[in-house]
Amino acid sequence: MPTCDVPETPLSELLPGVALRSDLPLPEVTEGAVVRHFNKMSTFNYCVDKGFYPLGSCTMKYNPKINDVAVNMPGFARIHPYQPENTVQGALEVLHSMQENLAAILGMDAVSLHPAAGAHGELLGMMLIRAYHAHRGESHRKFVIVPTAAHGTNPASAARCGYKTVPVNTDARGLVDMAHLAAQVEKHKDGLAGFMLTNPNTVGLFETDILEISRMIHDAGGLMYGDGANMNALVGTVRPGDMGFDVMHVNLHKTFSVPHGGGGPGSGPVGVKAILEPFLPVPQAVKNDDGTFHLDYDRPLSVGKVSPFAGAFLAVVRAYAYIRHYGRENLQQISENAVLNANYLRVKLGETLPVAYDRTCMHECVFTLKEWKKYGVKALDVAKRIIDYGYHPPTMYFPLIVPECLMIEPTETESVETLDDFIVALEAIAEEAKTNPEVIRSAPHTAPVRRLDEAFAARNLDLAWSPKEKFAAAMED
Ligand SMILES: Cc1ncc(COP(=O)(O)O)c(C=O)c1O
Repeated sequence: MPTCDVPETPLSELLPGVALRSDLPLPEVTEGAVVRHFNKMSTFNYCVDKGFYPLGSCTMKYNPKINDVAVNMPGFARIHPYQPENTVQGALEVLHSMQENLAAILGMDAVSLHPAAGAHGELLGMMLIRAYHAHRGESHRKFVIVPTAAHGTNPASAARCGYKTVPVNTDARGLVDMAHLAAQVEKHKDGLAGFMLTNPNTVGLFETDILEISRMIHDAGGLMYGDGANMNALVGTVRPGDMGFDVMHVNLHKTFSVPHGGGGPGSGPVGVKAILEPFLPVPQAVKNDDGTFHLDYDRPLSVGKVSPFAGAFLAVVRAYAYIRHYGRENLQQISENAVLNANYLRVKLGETLPVAYDRTCMHECVFTLKEWKKYGVKALDVAKRIIDYGYHPPTMYFPLIVPECLMIEPTETESVETLDDFIVALEAIAEEAKTNPEVIRSAPHTAPVRRLDEAFAARNLDLAWSPKEKFAAAMED
C-alpha cells in the first residue's frame, strides 16, 4: 500500500463532543451466551433451508449451496470496486457473460445488471421508456396502462417517472380484458407511453393474447414493459422478447435462486431491445477486441447511474453460478417442473380450497376463501394457522382483485411428498374451519410469538439492542 497522504486526525477532533461517550452500557456476557443467543434467534426465523415456503409471486426456491461456494472465492469476495480493471478481469468477465446469458434467456438485445430489486428494475425500465420517447421528441406521451391486478410497484414506478397510470381490467378468464384494453388504448393513443404487463400474470395465468396486446400497444406508439417477477414459469421455455416486450426486469432473487433478504440484497437486472440499449445506465461490462473486458462509461445517451459501481455484484455471481450449473439444456426443466408442481397443487388442493380461476395455471395458483366467511374465518386467519402446521404462510390478499385470496407458489425445488404433506395440513385446517373455527381465528399457537399487529410492527421497527434500563422505562410507559 502507498504511504498514507491524509493527515491523521484524532477521533475527538473528527466527531462532535456530543457524539462521544466515555461509557457505553454494552452487555457483559460470555462467548457461550452470545452463541446461544444468536443460534436461538436464528431458529425463530423461518427460511427455505428449514421448510416449504409457498409465498406466491416470490419464488422462494431452494438456494443451492454451490452458489455460496462461488461467491466465497477470494477473486469475487475479496476484491474492491476501485481496483484497476486489469486486476479484476475474471469479475468483469462474469458481469459480461451474465449480461449475455440473461439477454439470451429473456430474448433481449442487451441487459443492465444494475438494479438492486425488481421494483428498482421497474423504475429503471420506466426511465428508459421516458428517455426513448424524449429522444424522439415525444415527451408528450404521459400515459402508462397497468392492469388492476398488477403488483403495486408497477403503478408506483410509472408514477415515479411522472407517468399517469391508466387501469385495465381482468376478465372472467383471469386475463387482460381485451375490450377494455382496446378502449383504453383508443382513448389515450396520442399520449400512450407504454403498457406494464406481468406474464404469466399475477393470478398465475399465461396471457394468451400477448401478441395481440403487443401489436395494439406498438401500433399506438407505446412500448411494452414486462414485469419478470414470474419468469420462473418461462425460463428456458419461452422468451419474453419474442412476445413483444421491449424492456423487462427479472428478479435474480426469485428465478435464479439468489436468497431474498429483508428488503435486500437482491438484484433486478433489466433487459432491453436494441431501440433502448443506448439509454442503459453506466457502466456496461464490455468485451474488448483482444478478449479482455472493461467497464464502459462512454454512453452519451445513458440515463446515468442507478446504483453504486456495477450493481449487486455478489448476487450476480450467485445467479451466474446457478445458470452455468444448469446449462442451456437443463434450464427448461426448471420452468416445466415449477408449472407441474403448481398444477398438482391446483388440482389436489382445489378439492378443498376453491381455485379463483380454474384453468391450467403456470408456476403458481390463486385460491379464494370467500366461501369460508360463513365459518367466520378469513384468509389472514388461515395464513396464521398454517404456521402451527410448520409452514410459512402463502401470499395473501394479492392480487387485490381476488377476494380473500391465498396465492401459492410451490417452485420446482419441492418434492411431491412435501406438496402432499402441505395438502394434508390445509385439509385439516378446512376441517377445523367447520368444527372449531376459533382455533384458526386465534392462531398461531405454537410460534415464538402469537398474533402480531403487523401494521404497527412495520411502522414502529425497533431492531436495535437496548440496555435493560431502556426496556424497563419502555415497560413503565
Ligand atoms: C409481480 C411482482 N412485481 C414486482 C415485484 C417487486 O420485486 P422486488 O420485491 O424484487 O422489488 C414483486 C415482488 O414480489 C412481484 O411479485
